[in-house]
Amino acid sequence: MNREEARQRIAALSDELEQHNYDYYILAKPTISDYEFDMKLEELARLEKEFPEFLSPSSPTQRVGGGITKEFKSVKHRYPMLSLANSYSREEIADFINRIKKTVNEDVEFCCELKFDGLSISLQYEQGVLVRAVTRGDGTQGDDVTTNVKTIHAVPLKLHGDFPDFFEMRGEIVMPFESFNRLNKARAEAGDDLFANPRNAAAGTLKLQDSKEVARRRLDNYCYYMMMDGLEDRYQTHYQSLQAAKTWGFNISNFMALCKTIDEIFEFIDYWDVKRHELPFAIDGIVLKVNSYAQQQALGFTAKSPKWAIAYKFKAEEVETELQSVDFQVGRHGTITPVANLAPVQLAGTTVKRATLNNEDFIRLFDLHYGDTVTVVKGGEIIPKIIGVNLDKRQTGAQPVEFVKTCPICGTPLVQNEGEAAWYCPNSSGCSPQIRGRIEHFIGRKAMNIESLGEGKVELLYEEGLVRNVADLYDLTFEKLYGLEKVITIEDEFSLMPVATRKVSFKEKTAQNILDALEKSKSVPFERVLFALGIKFVGESVAKVLAKALHDIDHVISASVEEMTEINEIGEKIALSVRTFFDDPQNIEIVERLKAKGLQFAMAEQAVPDKEQVLAGKTFVVSGVFQHYSRDGIKETIEAYGGKNSGSISGKTDYVLAGDKMGPEKRKKAESLGVPIITEADFEAMIGISRSTEENGLLF
Ligand code: IVH
Repeated sequence: MNREEARQRIAALSDELEQHNYDYYILAKPTISDYEFDMKLEELARLEKEFPEFLSPSSPTQRVGGGITKEFKSVKHRYPMLSLANSYSREEIADFINRIKKTVNEDVEFCCELKFDGLSISLQYEQGVLVRAVTRGDGTQGDDVTTNVKTIHAVPLKLHGDFPDFFEMRGEIVMPFESFNRLNKARAEAGDDLFANPRNAAAGTLKLQDSKEVARRRLDNYCYYMMMDGLEDRYQTHYQSLQAAKTWGFNISNFMALCKTIDEIFEFIDYWDVKRHELPFAIDGIVLKVNSYAQQQALGFTAKSPKWAIAYKFKAEEVETELQSVDFQVGRHGTITPVANLAPVQLAGTTVKRATLNNEDFIRLFDLHYGDTVTVVKGGEIIPKIIGVNLDKRQTGAQPVEFVKTCPICGTPLVQNEGEAAWYCPNSSGCSPQIRGRIEHFIGRKAMNIESLGEGKVELLYEEGLVRNVADLYDLTFEKLYGLEKVITIEDEFSLMPVATRKVSFKEKTAQNILDALEKSKSVPFERVLFALGIKFVGESVAKVLAKALHDIDHVISASVEEMTEINEIGEKIALSVRTFFDDPQNIEIVERLKAKGLQFAMAEQAVPDKEQVLAGKTFVVSGVFQHYSRDGIKETIEAYGGKNSGSISGKTDYVLAGDKMGPEKRKKAESLGVPIITEADFEAMIGISRSTEENGLLF
């Protein structure tokens, strides 16, 4: 195939595939099989590889993902992204409608729409091509997430028809329940935290760096608003603009109604309050918009939202059911969480049979008794909550729910920290859920990343008595692992959503994979090993700070609470927790064993470079705001290169390092004493750092 033929074939395939994409994802009327589609997509990818000069950013191959976004660029919105005024009652809706009618003083038509429960997105098109997708952010500027948004099939990459040259579509990115359930099921199996609701899952997905993973999670998009200069000259109403957008390839909901009376509007609201449970994605209300652009203009905006629109939020569904019993669960750090077992009841599309009771104070607050009739709600979250007790229905002689005094698993008397509502089981080394929880945390993706040892396998190893602490993992051998077997059930206790039964068996390959992964984990950097140890309050970022400040485990073990609290970002609560952890000889023994096995217990050499002491003997006074450093950061850098910091300018000061907004008094003093005032760039030149123009944010 010559170049010209390739160009033509690429163009034809691109158009055809985009049309099939539209037929499948927007019209839900595919005209070719998945197999045929995949064959054509493969052919296109092949040709684009061979003739990269014809690869267009809007090619259908871009939907598969592959691009990595290292850092999402912050972009200013051309038109601010406003929010909507919320209302929760019919009275508020009636007031809104009457107010509008009074202000406009003519017939008003309202466009009633679904309020999609996801995150808003601004899609910018130039000459019919998607050029940028930006999140809402703070409404004035958001993050450029174009690479990720291109993987969403409902977002057209190239438009067809009579579209304007430059315009923006606003819409919502949602995660359909099907994608959400699949994702959470996989996360449950991998031992990862579950997403609480589809909105959080969609937000988390859109900010992933790997667009291939975004593509796999199958987000969806609905558009509900067009923006451009001169929009009102082109269309008279909001509804017309959306119908036009539909013909260009946008996904516009069919569930819209133009209503003139309050009764019609309430009919729409009431219909969707019930029917929303049949939709494949979440909505949390209804949006009413004045349809006519002329009327919208007459009504105008407040600082935050248009005066011509309002959102009606559905009430969280609630239902009464019986509190049958209470379980007391033991967490990784020994915290006891009471969980209510309820008579199974249908709520917002799922069967609910458990609800968290948080802690003892919560049980006291409602004075819960066994057999009580409780009211349960499901807000946006998947974990239902108890919000009340119907005292009229309490049976005489009902027994109050008492918080346990001893650990329900190991029988150890519980303890409570001063000022905290939670009770703990202090038997951290002998209480099985704590032990298993610590091991599961240790192997987690963000810790030692021993993927081949999912939750079920840890349970099996624990039950077989092979692993009682994280150091035991490194004593595992092929002989010990090979042939072990067990059937396990994975279920989400609260929503009962991701349910899976799996046979865990250690065949030859599994056993070897586990041993390989353990071996590989020996090169996991110190900061992650420190995190993996599972010290209370030492999350990923705290572990990083401690590792950086103290360099190796011996210094962490020997650091006093005072030494630790001197480190930026380390407070007393964290310092005390670290101290308590290492005061326990069993933890020291585990660390020693892990050390002997070759895990990383010190920062890698290049991570703590010995900076050349080029600033030795020089005293700096830092003032103002800097582009690349926080105030503390620049002071630390001075010290790292051998310099000293001082708070006030005197004859002994060698340099005043001035950022933006340096105080005029300081400037005067420096000038009068003849102390040189240097800029951030001068300073960086002194220590040998040079930045590219791009990094400096300068545009020539
Ligand atoms: S219109 C200037 N229409 O709700 C008005 N918003 O609480 C722009 N939303 O930020 C918004 N469905 O993320 C509009 N049919 C719909 C919507 C909708 C969901 C979201 C949107 C907005 C938020 C306001």
